[in-house]
Amino acid sequence: MTVRFTLNGVPVSVECAGSRRLLDTLRGDLGKTGTKEGCGEGECGACSVLIDGEVVDSCLVAVGQVEGRNVLTVEGLAGPDGTLSRLQQAFIEHGAAQCGICTPGMLLAAHVLLQRTIRPSAADVREGLAGNLCRCTGYTKIIEAVLSCTT
Ligand code: FES
Ligand code: FES
Repeated sequence: MTVRFTLNGVPVSVECAGSRRLLDTLRGDLGKTGTKEGCGEGECGACSVLIDGEVVDSCLVAVGQVEGRNVLTVEGLAGPDGTLSRLQQAFIEHGAAQCGICTPGMLLAAHVLLQRTIRPSAADVREGLAGNLCRCTGYTKIIEAVLSCTT
């Protein structure tokens, strides 16, 4: 089938089985390799993308489900010229990324949190990122990076 949707603000169409995982379509068919695969079971958040502004595990979504919808991957956080967002820059400056597998999902979850909560506390950030697991950083630097974007 042909699936049409908006990806990072650009209309796209793909020919594939509608049951193909959105994660595989993004990475394999559309070259958006910023989206990572961790568990493949909806547990780790590495594959997080935004669908119509909501954080979703793309390993659990069939591409047919995004027909006509807006999908944002981590690549879409940067400007059209590749300029990193303030949040992406903060992750670099705070050393909030090590292996980087969790980073795209963390960024997207934090992006949504910052859109919805004007001055989040550290507890708010922890809660907002609770669906995203990190094996490397101990979370402290990630939380500091997010909080640095609230002022
Ligand atoms: S790879 Fe999708 S939640 Fe872990
Ligand atoms: S930086 Fe490695 S899992 Fe988070």
